[in-house]
Amino acid sequence: MVNPKRYLVTAALPYANGPLHIGHLAGCYLPADIYVRFRRLEGEEVLFICGSDEHGAAITLRAMKEGISPRTLVDRYHRLFQETFSGVDIGFDYYFRTSHELHHQVARDFFLKLYKKGEFVEKHTEQFYDEKAGIFLADRYIKGTCPECGYPEAYGDQCEKCGTSLSPTELIHPVSTLTGTTPVLKTTKHWFFPLQKHESWLRKWIEDGVLEGQQHHWPEQWRTHVIGQCRSWLDGGLRERAMTRDLDWGVEVPEEVPGSAGKKLYVWMDAPIGYISATQKWAEERGADWKKWWQDEETALIHFIGKDNIVFHCIIFPALLHAHGDYILPYNVPANQFLNFEGDKISTSRGWAVWVHEFIQEMPDRIDELRFYLSKIMPEHKDSEFQWSGFMEAVNSDLVNNLGNFIHRVIHLTHRLFEGKVPPYDEEVAITASRNPDELSFWDSEVLDLFDLADEVRQQIHAFEFRKALQGILEIAARGNQLLQFNAPWELIKKNRVAAETVVHLGLIYVDVLGLLVHPYMPRTAAKIRALLNKEAIREAGELKEAFEILASLERSLLVPGSTVHPPERLFRKVEEAEIQSQREKLHRLLSKADKPKEAKSSKPVETMPTIEFEDFSRMDLRVGTVLRAERIKGADKLLRLEVDLGSEQRQIVAGVAQQYSPEELVGKKVVVVANLKPKKLRGVESQGMVLMAEDRGGRLHLVAPPDECEDGAKVR
Ligand code: MF3
Ligand code: ZN
Repeated sequence: MVNPKRYLVTAALPYANGPLHIGHLAGCYLPADIYVRFRRLEGEEVLFICGSDEHGAAITLRAMKEGISPRTLVDRYHRLFQETFSGVDIGFDYYFRTSHELHHQVARDFFLKLYKKGEFVEKHTEQFYDEKAGIFLADRYIKGTCPECGYPEAYGDQCEKCGTSLSPTELIHPVSTLTGTTPVLKTTKHWFFPLQKHESWLRKWIEDGVLEGQQHHWPEQWRTHVIGQCRSWLDGGLRERAMTRDLDWGVEVPEEVPGSAGKKLYVWMDAPIGYISATQKWAEERGADWKKWWQDEETALIHFIGKDNIVFHCIIFPALLHAHGDYILPYNVPANQFLNFEGDKISTSRGWAVWVHEFIQEMPDRIDELRFYLSKIMPEHKDSEFQWSGFMEAVNSDLVNNLGNFIHRVIHLTHRLFEGKVPPYDEEVAITASRNPDELSFWDSEVLDLFDLADEVRQQIHAFEFRKALQGILEIAARGNQLLQFNAPWELIKKNRVAAETVVHLGLIYVDVLGLLVHPYMPRTAAKIRALLNKEAIREAGELKEAFEILASLERSLLVPGSTVHPPERLFRKVEEAEIQSQREKLHRLLSKADKPKEAKSSKPVETMPTIEFEDFSRMDLRVGTVLRAERIKGADKLLRLEVDLGSEQRQIVAGVAQQYSPEELVGKKVVVVANLKPKKLRGVESQGMVLMAEDRGGRLHLVAPPDECEDGAKVR
């Protein structure tokens, strides 16, 4: 299927253990919403699905820590998510939740079908069990001493000191991070999905867009970083993955499966099925057909997600869908990269973020401005950054001075020169100052010019280039401004009334087209523009398609001469320095609270390792280098093999950062290397040194990165 008949658009189900921040919005909900609205303006049939992701170990543990039930926790966030999405006009057709009984049933049936088809491998494994908490422990929830370097705080999956990838049983003195007790080993049974069996068709499908000998999609329409990440997973070799867990909270493994008691579906199997169950629920409530959305080859399934979800949406879920047999596969997965905030990674635990529900409360009349700025900086191909100063600048220059000013000017002129009525136009009128002085008439050349600009925007949206499309829209406003400037209808009217009327009429057409094009990005502003022109509200029912037809025909106008135009009304208000300053202050207030230990106001000395002599330190040879190449290591999901340029030589270094950094992200980055560390083999690959990382309290690793201008080989002292 290459020309879709309809679009099923999904946005990643947000995990119900914390509020939504600007990174979530810019990462997937906003681009999804823009895409959906645009396609509908073009008259396409679209269904937009989302819901809360409410299972998984992280939710159980969080609830346990707060002393509440998982149900209470997920209810809290489910409600908050619904309010937040509607507060920023993210218009899902259905917002479901995975704790709903219908979802459980759909997910169980899905599992059972795979089980009956023999798609799983049953395996017994030994796993740590916390007797006090009464649960099996995920690897990350076990700490102990690293058998390689003696670091006492190593995690069950990896020692972040020396980078060694571990299994929890290798730890010396393992301790449960939940209760502090020593966990015991217990045998448990799980159902594994052998991904490696699916490797060859997956590769064909992802790299060539070919599925079962047919062109399914155009891989050149997929983002390079998405294909790149998939390729590096495929090259690293796929392995079997457990699709079940020992948990109390979650979707039960169907009782038809022997030994299912107490077993739940792995959250990454259950959550994406939420897209299907949500569609069923939507259809059930309307007496509609859900199958055409999931089982008809002519439906384009499009998953909007953040980059940390790529493997699940491009490899694991498609493999599950394919193994099931009844479902279509995604047509595109336009994943975004990460949004940073004021010079740092967004961090929920540190409170380093703008929370969307707080923004709605604090700046209720700036929702479109937020949508605009986030669209303008959307991290489509690389990470980007939200800055309050950038927000101010974008609103003041793009919205107030360009878009808002242009629209205001046209409406104002209509009132000043033509009593607030759309003036007539003359297709034949000759204006010498025309921008396209060729054989076309002034009218034709101006209308076609506008058509081309708008068509450019359309193509960018189809290519998921939301930033470029938005620039195109601003360009249209700038061109409209030029049209007025060039032809100065307020002067022209003195010598040639027909010409002045035609220019203002064209200006109003610009306003009308802008109203339609900004609608996906700023629905509230679009509604105001429609009201100014006295046009009926946008219903997302092919309005843009119709406008394109009218423009291209050159025979009619989008506007009826003589119809009334409302008096000018300000669309955007300038952001003052004080407004963003108070946001910055609030951030730092919260931050300093979060950073201080609750009990004591005074600072606490950092717990360090024993004091050393300067000589001890100076025996370490630290050098600056640049990562030239990076790739995954087969069979080790934490490790990357790096080639680092140290100026005079290149080193091979193995780093345990694969879960935080993709290989593509690391290439070109500056790093600090311990250059005289004794070489060591990790998973059979020799590591000639070590790359320095900072580990934050949440266990995340961050590259210690010297500035780009620092030359390779420079000593760090
Ligand atoms: N809850 C996941 C996250 O926040 C996303 C789940 S997407 C789905 O990263 F496909 F599983 F639904
Ligand atoms: Zn170690």
